[in-house]
Amino acid sequence: MASDVGARSGAEHRIGVLISGRGSNLQALIDAIAKGTLDATIAVVISNKAGAQGLDRASAAGIETLTLDHRAAATRDDYDRQLAAELRARKVRLVCLAGFMRLVGAPLLDTFPDAILNVHPSLLPAFPGVDAQKQALAYGVKVSGATVHLVTHELDGGPIVLQAAVPVHDDDSVETLSARILEQEHRLYPTAVQMLLEGNWRVEGRRVLAAAR
Ligand code: GRF
Repeated sequence: MASDVGARSGAEHRIGVLISGRGSNLQALIDAIAKGTLDATIAVVISNKAGAQGLDRASAAGIETLTLDHRAAATRDDYDRQLAAELRARKVRLVCLAGFMRLVGAPLLDTFPDAILNVHPSLLPAFPGVDAQKQALAYGVKVSGATVHLVTHELDGGPIVLQAAVPVHDDDSVETLSARILEQEHRLYPTAVQMLLEGNWRVEGRRVLAAAR
């Protein structure tokens, strides 16, 4: 299926970013927009956790923020409907999960088909879910990395947009490996967002490919 995420340009490239915490990937998007390497506008940053550090980063950049506590929603679907409504109200075309610690369900997936991205700290399909860096160390892999992928019903299982590998060193701790992977996340995420917004891509099965000309 060809994508229409990138059918418009410039200020029309409105993205929404969902966070739960630190927000360093959000910061990478903000910085790339400021540098001009990402041609997009962050229309809103939504956190499911009050006081998330990423909310301060957004405010400092003059971006609208919203806290939507998932515990206040009656059901999982109700929460996703609220998210979808807030994002649609701001004419968001692409949704970026950036450390958003919630499974995304049908109401959001159906509102943004092939238009929700996530960044994950492993070379998927290895080590989905939480503590990916700890899982990689425990398994003993010599290479791990970062993945940007489209979000589907399957946890960390959607079509892969970009990946970068990093070496795992013998003396790595979760912290040192996480830091090495994070550097790549910060490089990959704005690149992937720009690529999707430009729109010259399609999904074929599990593969994200350059659009046929
Ligand atoms: C990142 O490692 C990301 O891959 C994972 O959660 C972490 C979020 O970090 N999904 P930050 O909030 O962007 O700093």
